Amino acid sequence: MKVGVVGLGTMGAGIAQLAVEAGLETVGREVTDELGEKARGRIEHFLSRKVEKSQIDSFDIGLLSLTTDVSAFAECDVVIEAIVEELEPKRKLFAELERVCRADAVLATNTSALSVTEIAGATSTPERVVGMHFFNPAPLMPLVEIVRAERTSDGAFGTAYALGERLGKHPIRCHDTPGFVVNRILIPLLNDCVRVLDEARVTPADLDAGMKHGAGWPMGPCELVDLVGIDVHVHASEALWEKLREPRMAPPARLVAMANAGLLGRKSGRGFYEYGR
Ligand code: CAA
Repeated sequence: MKVGVVGLGTMGAGIAQLAVEAGLETVGREVTDELGEKARGRIEHFLSRKVEKSQIDSFDIGLLSLTTDVSAFAECDVVIEAIVEELEPKRKLFAELERVCRADAVLATNTSALSVTEIAGATSTPERVVGMHFFNPAPLMPLVEIVRAERTSDGAFGTAYALGERLGKHPIRCHDTPGFVVNRILIPLLNDCVRVLDEARVTPADLDAGMKHGAGWPMGPCELVDLVGIDVHVHASEALWEKLREPRMAPPARLVAMANAGLLGRKSGRGFYEYGR
């Protein structure tokens, strides 16, 4: 099986890493060679650490080929999209993928809160479009949501599910509803946590300690939003709010202000916390 990954940011690089680790030929596309090389460096680093820690015996980075050209996906069996979380760029990309990919290739989106059906609607073959939603950090989080859009075929759904298993994940099946399963619950919950910061006049460190030590979370909500990216969380939150109109879905003003100020969390060096770069 040959896998394509479009966009080698945090999520895309993580997915490409899983594919290489699973021994699959992988084509990764970034907009510049420089960004592609940066992703390859990260993938090599994390896989080398896994070898050092004896979690895997070896890996073959030669399985990963980099490109800036979408036509390099022509021979892929499955292409997973992990570009910017905005509908129009995704729709444009899927129309392009439909033109360049084999007719039997499955086209998957890693969108976290947009409608897979609306993305699929940009193609004339929506039956081969499916959601494959990984969680951040993709190499470490065991879950992948396999999302059936309105017109997804059983064949495409089955291929995506099998690929999820092949990548070592625990796939769950769901339909294309806002936020799917986990984000439908997690995003308003994280929004509540951020609102409590102001309401209870608690510091991010104390709130995080509260949820870790009082609710058994592996990391606190402020640490988690910093990991996900303040901008990514705000985008996903806005998408849910637009569809469901529940006040808890709307991004808290504090997060919107942070996103506007460029405080994006770990990736920008500062969010709720500061990070060495
Ligand atoms: N690939 C492989 N290894 C990686 C890695 C990667 N991309 N990133 C980090 N690691 C490695 C680290 O290098 C580290 O190893 P070394 O230090 O030995 O090099 C190792 O993983 C473990 O790192 P940690 O000590 O930080 O790991 P941990 O045991 O504390 O667990 C965690 C980290 C899995 C992230 C855990 O804290 C956790 O489960 N947090 C919750 C994460 C979560 O909820 N994610 C979902 C976000 S929501 C989402 O993603 C949905 C959306 O659509 C927005």
